[in-house]
Amino acid sequence: MSEYLVIYSSSTGFTERFANWIAEELACEAVNLHDLESAQLKSAKTIIYGGPVHAGWVVGLKKFLRRSDRQKCQNVFVFAVGLAQVNSADATRYRRANLNETNRKIPWFYFQGGVDIDKVKWPVKLVLKMIVLSDAAAQRKAAVKAGKTIEEKGSPLKQDYSDRAAIKLLVEAVKAVA
Ligand SMILES: Cc1cc2nc3c(=O)[nH]c(=O)nc-3n(C[C@H](O)[C@H](O)[C@H](O)COP(=O)(O)O)c2cc1C
Repeated sequence: MSEYLVIYSSSTGFTERFANWIAEELACEAVNLHDLESAQLKSAKTIIYGGPVHAGWVVGLKKFLRRSDRQKCQNVFVFAVGLAQVNSADATRYRRANLNETNRKIPWFYFQGGVDIDKVKWPVKLVLKMIVLSDAAAQRKAAVKAGKTIEEKGSPLKQDYSDRAAIKLLVEAVKAVA
C-alpha cells in the first residue's frame, strides 16, 4: 500500500501547482481526478484532494468524496484554491459550505491561487472578468474610503498569489496522522 496520493482538479493550473508541490513534499504522486483509477484510490493510505473554488464550490469535491467513501480510504485531507484572500470571510465560508455534517471532520486547508484570463474559455471568461473586475473596483473604493492607496501590480485579470510556503501546515498535518 502506498502511503500518500494527491488528487486534484484544475482549470487554469493553480491548483495543479499546489498539488505538485504537496506531492513533492510527500514524495508521492499527484493525479488529476479525471485520470484517477479506482486501484490508485484503493491503494493509498492517505489521500489529499484539492480543487479550485467556483461560485463557492470546490470543483470535483463531491465526486471525489463519493468515490473515496466507496473505496473506504483511511485518511482524507482537502484543500481549496480560490481568489479570495486567506482568512477572508469568503474563504472561511467555503469550508462550511463544502463539508457537510458527515464530512465536517475532514481536515480543510485554503490557499490563494490566482487568475489567468487567457487560460479561461468563453463564456466562463466573461463571468470571471465580471467577478475579478468588480472585486478590484470594490477594493479600490474601500481603499479610497479608508484614505489608503492600493498598489496595482499589473492587470487584475492576470495575478498569481500562489506561494509554496502556504502548503507547510497541510504537509505537517498529513505527516502527523500517517
Ligand atoms: C467560473 C469561476 C468562478 C469562480 N468563483 C470563485 C469563488 O467563488 N471564489 C473564489 O475565491 N474564487 C473563485 N474563482 C477563482 C478561482 O478559484 C481561482 O482563479 C483559482 O486560482 C483557479 O484555480 P485553477 O487554476 O486550479 O483552476 C472562480 C473562477 C471561475 C473561473
